[in-house]
Amino acid sequence: MLNQPSQPDASGPPDSGPWSVTNPFLQGPFEPLFNEIVVRDLEIVGKVPVELDGSLYRASSNQHARPESPEKFHWFDGDGMVHAFRIRDGKVSYCNRFVETDGLKLERAAGRPLYNGIYGATGKAQRDLPPGSPMIKSVANINVIALAGRVLAMHEVDSFYWHLDPDNLDTLGKFDFDGRFNSMLTAHPHFDPATNEMLAYGLNYQEMFVECMSFSPAGRVTSHVKTDMPIKAFVHDFIFTENYYIFFFGPLRVDPYGKDTVIQGNGALSFEADSPGRVLLIHRKSGAVKWLETRSFTCDHYLNAYELGDKVIVDATVTDTMIPGAHVNAAEFFPFPLVNEPSPFSGPQLWRLTIDLARDSVSTDRIGEFGAEFVRPNEGVMGRKHRYGYMAGTHAPAPDNRGFNCLIKHDYETGRTQFQHLCSAYEMLPGEPIYVARQDATAEDDGWILAVWYDPRRNASELVILAAQDFDGEPIARIKLDHRVPPGFHGNWIPRSAVR
Ligand SMILES: [Fe+2]
Repeated sequence: MLNQPSQPDASGPPDSGPWSVTNPFLQGPFEPLFNEIVVRDLEIVGKVPVELDGSLYRASSNQHARPESPEKFHWFDGDGMVHAFRIRDGKVSYCNRFVETDGLKLERAAGRPLYNGIYGATGKAQRDLPPGSPMIKSVANINVIALAGRVLAMHEVDSFYWHLDPDNLDTLGKFDFDGRFNSMLTAHPHFDPATNEMLAYGLNYQEMFVECMSFSPAGRVTSHVKTDMPIKAFVHDFIFTENYYIFFFGPLRVDPYGKDTVIQGNGALSFEADSPGRVLLIHRKSGAVKWLETRSFTCDHYLNAYELGDKVIVDATVTDTMIPGAHVNAAEFFPFPLVNEPSPFSGPQLWRLTIDLARDSVSTDRIGEFGAEFVRPNEGVMGRKHRYGYMAGTHAPAPDNRGFNCLIKHDYETGRTQFQHLCSAYEMLPGEPIYVARQDATAEDDGWILAVWYDPRRNASELVILAAQDFDGEPIARIKLDHRVPPGFHGNWIPRSAVR
């Protein structure tokens, strides 16, 4: 197994160390990983369930070359690197690879960065690009899913996903649904277990529409509805029920392909002062649309939603707008890991949103006093009433805490919340928890939680498996790497049988 000291590439400074000593997105756990590694038999403390046969794929933000303005670099703009933990017969192997996007290949060929970040505003106009180059750099760092027997990595500004080799993570090409969609496809498709479909949406900010679609397990389009969109809202996720696609449009606006945004170094995000929140419900079959207004907040990620009579219950993580008219930049929008106060936004929180379709109203309730993000359910209950939610969180933080320090399980039936800190001596940093159901499970939480944690004392990460029914107990397995997995965004457990 290789130890993994971080070394800048040729475009970095001559000495080792982070590219910036002031930008938190380039330091500590966030410092990029440069090597692509294969480890065949990882050290395991505990016992990996033999029922697990597949891979945990994780997308991370991992900038490949020193940014021209390191102090302006934003976490959301790092190149996509996929990490795969392959589990079989109680053993675990690992590999990681960059997603070979068009932008990454162009910059490698040029030997220097060519693109501005979508979120990090440098204030400098983007360089001239070779003819035929994508206008902005899409980095495929958000998520990894399985569809049509393929492993797909993705950003959210493309009309395609990236097809990866499930074993060695080679980038095989673009998976573009035969060019059917003229929109930026979401990096948050969701699986509906009731219909055995994958649901997704696309946004088009030139023609101003949102389209929603469903796919069969083979990747065939099974439904497609479309409606006008009055504003260029920043929409990163959606949720669904038996009958509806549901979107919350907050105060943030985004225009990645705008003439005056990314290519001018201004970043894609802007803030519409005093904007109301808007809720959009699109009927899954008829395409009928209903708009509601609510107060201003941004729904970041959704746990689940379901219908209850005339009401729709939505559980989500929300960033609240604390200072509606304030100047905004992307770092303030997502205030991890380091943003100087005051920010115009709260940290991410767990909320329940209740949409009353009879009264055309929306009510909001915060759950708990902890910080919460990267919520995930048992996906076998999505679209129907759920009992449990799992998330990364901040609970009882140390004075110098700058991010998540625990995983959280919330029981919506009893109101009980459990916290898993993993270590009592110091804070470790967990990523998104992925629920994997046990075969023939007898309860909604009869399964495992898989998450990658960063250990600052080792400057290394580990995959930790918890029994979901003993959430705050001892892990059943800790699988150790000798290097860090830079914190990223999302991933999924993909059973061996789901890919070909
Ligand atoms: Fe996300």
